[in-house]
Amino acid sequence: MEAEHSPGFLPALRSWRFLLPGMLALGAVWLAGCASAPGHKADAIIRQPFGQTKDGMPVDLYTLRNRNGAEARISNYGGIVVSLKVPDRYGAYGDVALGYDNLADYLKDSPYFGALIGRYGNRIAKGKFTLDGHEYTLATNNYPNALHGGLKGFDKVVWDAKLLTRAGRVGLELHYVSKDGEEGYPGTLSVTAIYSLTEDNALELEFTATTDKDTVINLTHHSYFNLAGKGDVLHHEVMIPASCFTPVDSTLIPTGKLEPVEGTPFDFRQATAIGARIGQDNEQLKFAGGYDHNWVVDKPPGQLGLVARVFEPGSGRVMEVLSTEPGVQFYSGNFLNGSNQGKGGRVYQFRDGLTMEPQHYPDSPNHPEFPSTVLKPGEVFHSTIIYRFSVRQ
Ligand code: GLA
Repeated sequence: MEAEHSPGFLPALRSWRFLLPGMLALGAVWLAGCASAPGHKADAIIRQPFGQTKDGMPVDLYTLRNRNGAEARISNYGGIVVSLKVPDRYGAYGDVALGYDNLADYLKDSPYFGALIGRYGNRIAKGKFTLDGHEYTLATNNYPNALHGGLKGFDKVVWDAKLLTRAGRVGLELHYVSKDGEEGYPGTLSVTAIYSLTEDNALELEFTATTDKDTVINLTHHSYFNLAGKGDVLHHEVMIPASCFTPVDSTLIPTGKLEPVEGTPFDFRQATAIGARIGQDNEQLKFAGGYDHNWVVDKPPGQLGLVARVFEPGSGRVMEVLSTEPGVQFYSGNFLNGSNQGKGGRVYQFRDGLTMEPQHYPDSPNHPEFPSTVLKPGEVFHSTIIYRFSVRQ
């Protein structure tokens, strides 16, 4: 179904808003490329039906493809990245994200595979926080705490979707308005999340949000990566440019301290295999069953910079994670236990995937000493997360 367009096609993209309804009705292949070089594809966005939610809302799956052949498949259910195909050092494309083939499996039981997380990424202690003298109560869906936005967080809602093209990238703009009081959070929160796939094989995610009442916000992304596309992630080498991390109590709530990583298994300033120290006799590793902590990245607040680099020696794949956020939650898939049968029938076992979730620190609303997650009317929340893929020979 793919066709090439003449170079003269590109200026017409500026009027995509007019073309869009017709293309959507066709159900649709959207080619953003000029004439393709032999062996290379044009940029493309393809929309396909992905099923419907239990209350009958239709859900789509969007395939973004760049000229190199890298491909991200994203659903407007939960903003879920369903698959992400990038080349290895021999140029072979493979899927580096864990997930399911069908919407039904995501609806049934997903440990946040590929999802967009909000309103508040990670935990809020005992599901309570106080803002402007008022105490708010959230569902304690990760006993005794609140986790990842509640019982029906942003990972479980249907977002409005628009196709987007910009110079050198194809994208998907998602929009969701979370009502005042939804999941216990104050304020009507209007959120836009733009995913785009760039020509240098980066999947970028840009968030903006506004509120009509003081609230708290901590948006992130929860893809589980396995750069080998198989096996566990223990041989993946991780580098995190952070001198401190936020140690937790036994329920994974930060104690409030910023602890130096020096001399601990949390020092990833030099690239180290995940498996090298994960089994050490260390209270923090025991509490989480491995790595599931927030690192305090050494970079100026709000500035876009590297927060992690992951290298998988077998495939040569490298993933660099950049963000404007001050922290990154590195989770080594400690709760995967063989109970999720994923894409192609693959059963995900203990530590078969890792997440790198750029974010503000967990439980910030209860820690005034942490960077603030408060958003007020009249302010615009901005945050950027980039997963950039390359290879090392
Ligand atoms: C985050 C949390 C983990 C776990 C996963 C999802 O990374 O920190 O404890 O909840 O999400 O299972």
